[in-house]
Amino acid sequence: MGIEERLIELKERRNKVRQGGGPERIEKQHSSGKLTARERIELLLDAGTFHEIGGFVKHRCVDFGMDKEVAPGEGVVTGWGLVEGRPVCVSSQDFTVIGGSLGEMHASKIVKAMELAAKMGCPFIALNDSGGARIQEGVDALRGYGDIFYRNSIYSGVIPQISVIMGPCAGGAVYSPALTDWVFMVDKTSHMFITGPQVIKAVTGEEVDFERLGGAAVHNQISGVAHFIAQDERTCLAMVRRLLGYIPSNNAEEPPFVQSTDDPRRLEPGLREVIPDDPNKGYDMHQVVEAVVDSGSFMEVHAHYATNIIVGFARLGGRSVGVIANQPRVKAGCLDIDASDKAARFIRFCDCFNVPVLTFADVPGYLPGVGQEHGGIIRHGAKLLYAYSEATVPKVTVIVRKAYGGAYIAMCSRHLGGDVVYALPTAEIAVMGPEAAANIIFRNYIKESADPEAARKEKIQEFREKFANPYVAAARGYVDDVIDPAEIRPKVISAFEVLRTKAETRPAKKHGNMPV
Ligand code: HXC
Repeated sequence: MGIEERLIELKERRNKVRQGGGPERIEKQHSSGKLTARERIELLLDAGTFHEIGGFVKHRCVDFGMDKEVAPGEGVVTGWGLVEGRPVCVSSQDFTVIGGSLGEMHASKIVKAMELAAKMGCPFIALNDSGGARIQEGVDALRGYGDIFYRNSIYSGVIPQISVIMGPCAGGAVYSPALTDWVFMVDKTSHMFITGPQVIKAVTGEEVDFERLGGAAVHNQISGVAHFIAQDERTCLAMVRRLLGYIPSNNAEEPPFVQSTDDPRRLEPGLREVIPDDPNKGYDMHQVVEAVVDSGSFMEVHAHYATNIIVGFARLGGRSVGVIANQPRVKAGCLDIDASDKAARFIRFCDCFNVPVLTFADVPGYLPGVGQEHGGIIRHGAKLLYAYSEATVPKVTVIVRKAYGGAYIAMCSRHLGGDVVYALPTAEIAVMGPEAAANIIFRNYIKESADPEAARKEKIQEFREKFANPYVAAARGYVDDVIDPAEIRPKVISAFEVLRTKAETRPAKKHGNMPV
């Protein structure tokens, strides 16, 4: 056979691989509101940059009629390409081929793409759309999952790993996304669960459908398994591209710098009005965050989960920062189990990948309640302390209003290694709020007074004047300066600028033992 014929054969073989499960199954995929594995890759990557590997891989299962089953591409498309000119490795499960089910060779393709990403030092992105373990392959399919989980774990903190759920993701298959840094889900067409509705009905008697069990809304609002929800696949893949713009390709690199047109010295006098005089009045902390960071640069993470704390990426003077901020509008900004988990995981990502951390504190304390105590607020809350203490990236904190008790310490205080700590004149830094404090330390005085109510008010006021301000902490040097709300932006930009050369080490160890 001459080269011409060989090239024709190659083209034919390639075409077969590219057609996946064929026109009928592709049509079924489209009519259920989903794109194909290859269409997704085209949308994710810069145009024309995808290079496929492993297209000719075949399964070697012969049981249950599999010897006659042709599976183009083994049900997953893998390779590399560019996002905004930066390399990424990608796998995209093809539901049109045996339901995107994962067998031994399907898994080995994913593993190869992961290993390539780790060797090159670039993000790995998995587009998931699969019926799970290929049932006919039995334990070989399970081994395939194990190989993926193992690499998800050992590459954690080395390269960013992103999971995009674009169809079913069931059973143990959910643990690969759970081990990665970011989970995106598409509303209505993606589902994640360990056991499906039928098994649940048989075991517990509960009746539930796919959507209410493990839809995108559930995992973004209730379980916190997913960080982002998109209305459709196109939007979802555009969000993945945007996220990549804030993070470096690996743990040895800095996040990309993006030239900003927003003046780093811009003052924001409007912030003087946003933060109310009344310490018990709520306000939207988003307004503070948006006003401080480069215009339009805030990308919120976990926007619908544990909304009493806000986390997300932004830019300051063109440089990436991770923002963590209490939200006084929800549960008065208290820290609870979910908020602690959410913030701790975000801080650890930032620290793994050299993203400096900016914290806005307005926190009356940990949320009281039997449910919280029995749910383990002690160990969950400890994660936040651990994550901030462990982080060696530059840490700048602005105490906006309340910073009481353990929650004051937890929100990146000087004592957990906050490098620069600012407070606004509205800040109240104390062991507890004036009402609670007066009721405890002046209890006898109030009880014995002729007019206990008047005595209570007097003592609350006395405590407020004496302790509920930023100057006691500033006098000890726990706060570096008290600043005008209007100047938060230039102050924090300058602080991060000076901290760019920060170098901090920790005692040598294998790894710490974070409370989980
Ligand atoms: C082999 C599978 C498969 C699987 C789907 N298919 N899942 N083949 N192993 N796990 C095949 C179907 O037989 C079908 O083939 C084709 O893919 C398309 O599937 P449909 O059922 O027609 O699609 P749809 O109606 O959209 O339903 C999708 C689905 C359903 C809900 C995902 O296919 C399903 O319930 N699949 C089984 C899910 C499951 O129990 N997986 C194992 C989970 S346990 P034909 O030729 O008929 O078109 C697990 C353990 C992992 O994954 C452990 C890791 C540690």
